[in-house]
Amino acid sequence: MTCSPYEFESVGVGMITGRKVILREKRLADVRDDYIWHTDPELASLDATPPLPAIFSRYLLDYTTEMHYPSPCKQQFAVETPEGKHIGNCGYYNISETGGEAELGIMIGNRDYWDKGYGTDTINTLTSHIFHQTGLNRIYLKTLKSNARAQKCFKKCGFSPCGDLDKDGYSFVLMELHRRQWEETQDGTWRLKLE
Ligand SMILES: CC(C)(COP(=O)(O)OP(=O)(O)OC[C@H]1O[C@@H](n2cnc3c(N)ncnc32)[C@H](O)[C@@H]1OP(=O)(O)O)[C@@H](O)C(=O)NCCC(=O)NCCS
Repeated sequence: MTCSPYEFESVGVGMITGRKVILREKRLADVRDDYIWHTDPELASLDATPPLPAIFSRYLLDYTTEMHYPSPCKQQFAVETPEGKHIGNCGYYNISETGGEAELGIMIGNRDYWDKGYGTDTINTLTSHIFHQTGLNRIYLKTLKSNARAQKCFKKCGFSPCGDLDKDGYSFVLMELHRRQWEETQDGTWRLKLE
């Protein structure tokens, strides 16, 4: 895997506006919501991870360190409503310049916002940002086979299944979206922006 921060320096990420959500840079003030979501057993099981056992003070320390020394291999965003409510997080990581690809992740942590199109708009906004602002050609993800909501959401955003993975006792569906497929779903305005 290779990655470098150059793509992100040129992106100059501030706020990315979607139809229902705004993606913005992470802030230290997000830490309480993130702690609640990362220690939630149901959210952890939907993400095929054990709930985080860390006590808040330890979590805060790690969180602060990551904010000061962000990894060049990933780009994270907070997901907000237009009213400024923090409802989740998304981002892309495992960025491979040589492979031209990255892995996408999303969590709408606030259950009040499930099944209302916020996840779909978050992913559409993020994939559009990636294909406009970076040279990556493929975005992929993995989700639990049992997570029907997530698969429906990803399919609505143009992702298609591309394999299966059994890992650590979990069964995942792999899904992908290629730049070419994404371009075909756009109305042509992206070309003008790039030219
Ligand atoms: C998965 C997630 C991102 C989806 O976001 P969302 O805002 O809830 O999803 P959307 O409303 O945009 O789309 C969900 C779709 O799935 C449908 N759906 C919900 N439950 C379903 C089920 N059990 N089976 C099939 N479809 C289902 C919804 O009706 C909706 O489809 P529609 O718009 O045609 O009605 C979000 O729910 C989430 O983060 N959940 C918790 C963590 C998680 O599962 N993460 C995924 C890790 S890969």
